[in-house]
Amino acid sequence: MNTQALAVHDNGPEGVYLRGSGAAREWWRVSLSERAHMFRIEHGHGAAGSGAVDIDTVVDLDNLEAKLLKWRREGFVSVAGREDEARAVAAGSRFAMELERAVELQREARAAEQTAPTEAVRIGGVAMPPAPESTPSALVPRINDAYLFTARADDIALDIVENRRVMLIGHTGSGKTSFIEQVAARTGHGVLRANMNGQTTIGDFVGFWTVKGGETVWVDGVLPVAMREGYWLIIDELDFAEPSILAVLTAVLEPNGRLLLKERGNEIVEPHPSFRLFATANAAGAMSAYRHLYQGANLLNEAFLDRWRVYLFDYLSKEEEAEVLRRTLPALTPSIAQTLAAIAADCRAAFAREDLASTFSTRRLIDWAELMLRTGDVERAAGPAIYAKVSAEDAALIRSIIRHHAIFDAGDGASG
Ligand SMILES: Nc1ncnc2c1ncn2[C@@H]1O[C@H](COP(=O)(O)OP(=O)(O)O)[C@@H](O)[C@H]1O
Ligand SMILES: [Mg+2]
Repeated sequence: MNTQALAVHDNGPEGVYLRGSGAAREWWRVSLSERAHMFRIEHGHGAAGSGAVDIDTVVDLDNLEAKLLKWRREGFVSVAGREDEARAVAAGSRFAMELERAVELQREARAAEQTAPTEAVRIGGVAMPPAPESTPSALVPRINDAYLFTARADDIALDIVENRRVMLIGHTGSGKTSFIEQVAARTGHGVLRANMNGQTTIGDFVGFWTVKGGETVWVDGVLPVAMREGYWLIIDELDFAEPSILAVLTAVLEPNGRLLLKERGNEIVEPHPSFRLFATANAAGAMSAYRHLYQGANLLNEAFLDRWRVYLFDYLSKEEEAEVLRRTLPALTPSIAQTLAAIAADCRAAFAREDLASTFSTRRLIDWAELMLRTGDVERAAGPAIYAKVSAEDAALIRSIIRHHAIFDAGDGASG
């Protein structure tokens, strides 16, 4: 019997899968079942189709794909031996392979339409358009050479190129604001920030009328300024914003959304092509479980969230954080940096278990390390950087975590 003939479809999983040779030969045969979307699988020894079939059953596609994966791991090889099929099985599913092709097509389409300007700046693998020449340098953030762009940077950079609205959510000090600032710093874009967890009123945000030298004049708020001039606007802690601000934002969130200044006789503000809108939030969306830590944070509703690409900023991994520490403070030795990163990771784990009420930010870690380099004293440095910011119970637990990492002897410096 010609086993090749069993491959019913060119692209289907049907066919014979073999392992071993001679007397040790073992096979699985896959064919279409009479039942729609189901496959018959048979198993036997010896030449396929000749020996006795010891397993004969019908499975659905999900089940079959799991089996194909398992067989491949066990050393079964498709008689058809097609490379694409092998890849599909290895990737776990046909879907993954098709998606790979689609991504490739999309990438080619993008490359064709993008005659990258020579001045384009690369962030990871993404070429980003430069800022308008008129950008005042005072508004361009300073480059922090120690800033580490992790794997997520490419996705967000592409969103910025495509003019998507980007919201970064995550605990305080996880690098949300600095990410946007560092992309802007490298591409030369001006950045304006509006923090919603303070006294930002709708007037500050949109603008207001005032009297100047006997004349009534209009003063643009940060939003129209950024839209007209092509700056990047970061709305920090958006989950604390007043409802009136959220209402104004909603219109602007549309692609190329315009701003209607009602207070100014319905003037329409068109967005400059370089204008970009970002938000950061601590307790929105996937972070809602932590709302108790961020007193007064509002729930952002789903319709509002759906107007954004929302990225969850976890803290850096231990390795990444050690790397950031060394880049920020080159005097730190690799082993100190690793130990400090491990302490931060342990504190975060304790926080996740609810053993600690406060989390441990990258900002806090860097500050502690900086003080440590100044004082040469781990405990003294931890006072203003850590202990004084948390409850006495939390301070005690953090101190024991630090001791556990054996940075200092139990008797040493334990005065606090
Ligand atoms: N990926 C990173 N690379 C280097 N430093 C980082 C990184 N992420 C966070 N930091 C440090 O942590 C500090 C706080 O980050 P920030 O962006 O202000 O946090 P958030 O906005 O999430 O509260 C930054 O100023 C920077 O020193
Ligand atoms: Mg921030």
